[in-house]
Amino acid sequence: MNDFVFSQSKQNIMRIDILTLFPEMFNGPFSESMIKRAVEKGIAEIHIHNIRDYSTNKHKRVDDYAYGPGAGMVMTIQPVADCINKLMSERRYDAVIYTTPDGERLEQPRANHLSTLNNLIILCGHYKGVDERIREKYVTMELSIGDYVLTGGELAAMVISDSIIRLIPGVLSDETSALSDSFQNGLLSPPVYTRPAEYDGMKVPDILLCGDDKKIEEWRLEEAIKRTKERRPELLDDDQ
Ligand code: ADE
Repeated sequence: MNDFVFSQSKQNIMRIDILTLFPEMFNGPFSESMIKRAVEKGIAEIHIHNIRDYSTNKHKRVDDYAYGPGAGMVMTIQPVADCINKLMSERRYDAVIYTTPDGERLEQPRANHLSTLNNLIILCGHYKGVDERIREKYVTMELSIGDYVLTGGELAAMVISDSIIRLIPGVLSDETSALSDSFQNGLLSPPVYTRPAEYDGMKVPDILLCGDDKKIEEWRLEEAIKRTKERRPELLDDDQ
């Protein structure tokens, strides 16, 4: 088995096990930036499992033709079940997530909830998806990252992992910044500016230079509401 691990420590940390047919895809995104820092600080541990390694088929097959007419391959039960069973014999998992366009759409409240859990499995769908019996027996949550179809669930697994890990206390250098993200208060973020105060005739709004933090917070809230009304008015509906 050549499962590979992004990990530094073994203590009370978020552990994500990702089951995929394309393990190499995770090398870049998980070796950079925020996820890399979380792993280095020992806050998160990510284990990538190559589903093909678990296949007992002599040609290491992991897919087969869908029953019924029409083209398309389906991920077979055996290697996925064996990998999940092995993991489950080693520890308790809080959720087994399957990435699929017909899952529930990932939204900020779901990411918030997942960030409070400890052990997660993410199964990346491929081809026409995994045999339905895997979903029935093991999967506890099916997530889509949007109403479009990707080549596979790997990018979705990365998006889900990123949205969760950045929320764990200690991952972002300024802990409050995750709380002021777009969506955390049901609003989009207000515009932000940095130095210089004037560039090519374009000025930073005067209020940001006034030195009165309370006034600036009020302005930010007004701008967030304005932006949300303009771009995502449905977020302001009461029954959302
Ligand atoms: N697999 C393919 N498309 C997907 C999507 N939009 N979300 C999650 N998994 C997927």
